[in-house]
Amino acid sequence: MIKKCLFPVAGYGTRFLPATKSMPKEMLPLVNKPLVQYGVEESIEAGLKEVAFVTGRGKRSIADHFDISYELEHQIAGTGKEKYLSSIREVLDKGTFMMTRQREMKGLGHAILTGECLIGNEAFGVILSDDLCLNKGDEGVMAQMVKLYNQFRCSIVATMEVPADQIEKYGVIAGEDMGNGLYRVSNMVEKPKPEDAPSNLAVIGRYILTPDIFDIIRDTPPGKNGEIQLTDALMTQAQNGCVLAYKFRGKRFDCGSVPGFIEATNYVYEHIYSEE
Ligand code: G1P
Repeated sequence: MIKKCLFPVAGYGTRFLPATKSMPKEMLPLVNKPLVQYGVEESIEAGLKEVAFVTGRGKRSIADHFDISYELEHQIAGTGKEKYLSSIREVLDKGTFMMTRQREMKGLGHAILTGECLIGNEAFGVILSDDLCLNKGDEGVMAQMVKLYNQFRCSIVATMEVPADQIEKYGVIAGEDMGNGLYRVSNMVEKPKPEDAPSNLAVIGRYILTPDIFDIIRDTPPGKNGEIQLTDALMTQAQNGCVLAYKFRGKRFDCGSVPGFIEATNYVYEHIYSEE
């Protein structure tokens, strides 16, 4: 059983400056809920109730968000405003939250390795909250992946097809088609030029990782942009064992970019918030 989900949340959010000067980008709201809460809800829905944040300096409000606000609770207790707290109360009732800090930004692989002290020797999920994944009325992407993990017991990456002019923003896989949207990964490249991309299947920010990934990351030299890349570690894992890529069901928004964030805001407003 997978119980834990790691959230690397130490990044700077440069593209949203000045909004993110003193506020974590993960706390930017999509309508009325911070981005990171959507990811945490997806994790809890998948049964991953032990939430582990790899945070950094200036990110304390994330820890505060996933804790009780005694004063606020006291103020609105018994009033009609209690309904506004219902989604976060549900998250707090179901989940437990742990944090460690990443002191230096050395890539996603390094962030994952920093979280080893919270995960230990067990398989775990990873959610990059910049990638908002919604599958309204059906199971979330992490829940879909947990089912696959229970069947195959190996690392799994979520993928989607992207146009050639976008491919350079992603880790890209190639693999043997196993049917039902599953591929056995044979190649993985971090942010290739379109002409070097092994396919049009891009990795998006949902992973299930087996714990041998930590030792592999420790032995992985810096790659693209001089950073320790999770993609490179997963490629080693694929060569020595098995990594699956999964074309998930649902919609994904790139909330790490301003246009993606606006698109997600409009979608949430029209299809989720207005119908609640
Ligand atoms: C990271 C990963 C990349 C993946 C992407 C998904 O890149 O390194 O392989 O495709 O997340 O969002 P980042 O967007 O953090 O640069």
